[in-house]
Amino acid sequence: MVVKKKSISSASPWTEKGKYSKTNEIHYSFLKPQLRHALLLCFLLSVWFVILRCFLLSSSTSENNIEKLNVDEKAPKTTSKSSAISKCEGGMSVYLYDMPAEFNKGLLKDCSHLNPYTDMCPHVANRGLGQPLSYMAESAVATTWFATHQFIAEMIFHARMENHPCRVLDPINAKLFYVPFYGGLDASSKFHDANLTARDELAVRLADYLRSKPWWERHHGKDHFLVLGRTAWDFLRRNNNFGNSLLNLPDVQNMSVLTVERNPWDRVHNQHGIPYPSYFHPYTSHEMMTWQNKMRQSSRPHLFSFIGGPRRGVEKAAVRDELIRQCSESGRCKLLKCGKGPSKCHYPIEVLKVMSQSQFCLQAPGDSFTRRSTFDSVLAGCIPVFFSPHTVYTQYEWFFPAGDAREYSVYIDENALKTGNGSKRVVSIEEELFKIEREQVERMRSAVINLMPRLTYAHPNATDLGFQDAVDVALEALWAKRLKLNV
Ligand SMILES: *[C@@H]1O[C@H](CO)[C@@H](O)[C@H](O)[C@H]1NC(C)=O
Ligand SMILES: *[C@@H]1O[C@H](CO)[C@@H](O)[C@H](O)[C@H]1NC(C)=O
Ligand SMILES: *[C@@H]1O[C@H](CO)[C@@H](O)[C@H](O)[C@H]1NC(C)=O
Ligand SMILES: *[C@@H]1O[C@H](CO)[C@@H](O)[C@H](O)[C@H]1NC(C)=O
Repeated sequence: MVVKKKSISSASPWTEKGKYSKTNEIHYSFLKPQLRHALLLCFLLSVWFVILRCFLLSSSTSENNIEKLNVDEKAPKTTSKSSAISKCEGGMSVYLYDMPAEFNKGLLKDCSHLNPYTDMCPHVANRGLGQPLSYMAESAVATTWFATHQFIAEMIFHARMENHPCRVLDPINAKLFYVPFYGGLDASSKFHDANLTARDELAVRLADYLRSKPWWERHHGKDHFLVLGRTAWDFLRRNNNFGNSLLNLPDVQNMSVLTVERNPWDRVHNQHGIPYPSYFHPYTSHEMMTWQNKMRQSSRPHLFSFIGGPRRGVEKAAVRDELIRQCSESGRCKLLKCGKGPSKCHYPIEVLKVMSQSQFCLQAPGDSFTRRSTFDSVLAGCIPVFFSPHTVYTQYEWFFPAGDAREYSVYIDENALKTGNGSKRVVSIEEELFKIEREQVERMRSAVINLMPRLTYAHPNATDLGFQDAVDVALEALWAKRLKLNV
């Protein structure tokens, strides 16, 4: 059974699936006795897959892929049902704290005051998936597309963990402890509170709550983890400035903290980057594969695109002005400019449309280093172009391949986009991208599309997913980390 699973996955679009896992050896040791059978099966499946691909390529040349996102009956049905993680191999088990509501769901009662800039009520709906994108829906079946808010991963993670196959109800033998605290929503609800004690209040109470539990004492919280939907900077208040002090609390520093943006200079080494949620929340690997195939076949008339607005007074975002200038002057770039007020760039469908018609998507730092847009671009099969190593390379070690970043992205140092400092001429992004060979572009796009499953948050009600999503990958990495710590 294990052999079958492995060989199927080597013929499926998820070839990369096991490659980044830190506990690979465990699976491969099962393989040895039946290696020959596996290889034969693998070969046959590869042939089948190549034939299938040829058939698909010749039969479908959809120009307007975004307009019809219905389940494509021509897409191959997945045969791989089981995933390593769903068996919770190696004895991994996760206990969810059943915490007082004030730490999570209770915060949602006052959803219109969770963020000073936005009414979060529509965004916290459907366990954090947000409002369904009905025009993307597959009519009869439950929708898998939502206008998901960028800072809501903590809610989606919680919902998915409640149904997760590795969840155990008895803490006595649990190996990992998940603390479902909606820290991002708590922090943003108090951004403008002048009273710093009040801003930190719930975080301090969280630490008190955990310390009072017998499971905390066993390993001083080293087997506990938190998930935060906002960037680490919101929880690292210094000099009475911005945010709260959650990540400065000694108890929290003993836990693993999963966040959409970590502090790359974090001395405690307990912060781990997790993907921003995008708009696609599938139930099955068939849905995932169908979408991947769609993005493989999408025609991409734009060499590159930029979706974003200028940022005034944010030094690390200065590069945006240059990107906007170069993009608007290039005939090969599609610019979707975000400004104040209503703009196309706030509509998921418009964002996905531009990205799925582009070969490269520029990912400039904004208010912080990372961007949700990076994950939207992967979802659209668009190769990301980075200008700071902290947008992805120093952030998501569990999720992006550790090897050569050029396999899935382009890097242009932001200093190359400035004059002065010895250089008279700024680099032309168009020239840089145009010079990459076609075959190389194909390979990169294929790598990006293969990353899609592990960067996706599956629908929390999924029961038989058939692939490892972002939550599965995070759990596997936490488990590997715990084994290494040997606590
Ligand atoms: C999951 O399923 C339950 C039970 O059918 C339903 O009430 C709930 O709304 C579903 N959750 C989401 C996020 O759709
Ligand atoms: C600040 O908040 C704390 C906790 O909510 C409260 O006890 C204290 O009285 C507040 N201080 C002021 C000056 O309002
Ligand atoms: C953190 O863990 C260490 C052991 O690694 C322990 O000595 C220390 O007391 C813990 N800190 C807290 C605040 O629990
Ligand atoms: C000048 O260029 C060097 C090397 O590329 C870089 O490290 C430095 O930050 C740049 N200085 C400014 C002011 O851009």
